[in-house]
Amino acid sequence: MTRAPETIDTTRLVLRRPRLDDADAIFTRYAADPDVTRYVGWPTHNTVDDTRAFLAFSEGHWAQWPAGAYLAWSRDDGKLVGSTGLLFETRRRAMTGYVLARDAWGRGYATEALTAMLHVALLTGVQRLYALCHADHRASARVLEKCGFVCEGTLRRYEDFPNLRPGEPQDVLCYATILQI
Ligand SMILES: CC(C)(COP(=O)(O)OP(=O)(O)OC[C@H]1O[C@@H](n2cnc3c(N)ncnc32)[C@H](O)[C@@H]1OP(=O)(O)O)[C@@H](O)C(=O)NCCC(=O)NCCS
Repeated sequence: MTRAPETIDTTRLVLRRPRLDDADAIFTRYAADPDVTRYVGWPTHNTVDDTRAFLAFSEGHWAQWPAGAYLAWSRDDGKLVGSTGLLFETRRRAMTGYVLARDAWGRGYATEALTAMLHVALLTGVQRLYALCHADHRASARVLEKCGFVCEGTLRRYEDFPNLRPGEPQDVLCYATILQI
């Protein structure tokens, strides 16, 4: 299995594997912001210990698989912009996603970060890269479409969104792309 680089340069971002000492930046920039976390699958972080739990999970994933989460940093001012990554489910199938700090929305960063994840998926031998997004989340669906993902359909009452309507599974769109080596 080819391992992914732990640092990737894109036009405006540096993507790198998270480190344990990134907890404060993640917590402060986006993970504790309810506007940012409305449509994500994890609860808004209440304390930096929640963020440390994510980092421990990320470490475990990188240890087991050829890639994992990445943090996206601005090349311009060095600030943390958000996070993306690959979550491997098998050697050939991975899920992706992205989350950006509020002040980084609307500038094409998610599209830039997801394009880099497509390269990581190709490099590491993923054949199916997919993402789930809430059926009402137009901006996220648009990012996936711009990157060539195809909507395979609606998974009805599929996933709980803990910051939206906890305990009421929501309809999600399943987007995927098939990568050839
Ligand atoms: C969703 C999110 C990642 C988008 O990031 P971004 O960097 O603003 O995305 P981009 O600028 O690359 O592209 C957004 C696209 O959606 C479009 N868009 C934005 N809001 C929209 C809306 N309400 N309806 C339709 N399209 C919309 C933009 O116009 C743009 O498309 P365009 O380039 O054709 O104009 C960002 O808003 C975010 O982090 N939100 C919080 C976390 C989150 O919800 N993550 C996704 C979970 S599935």
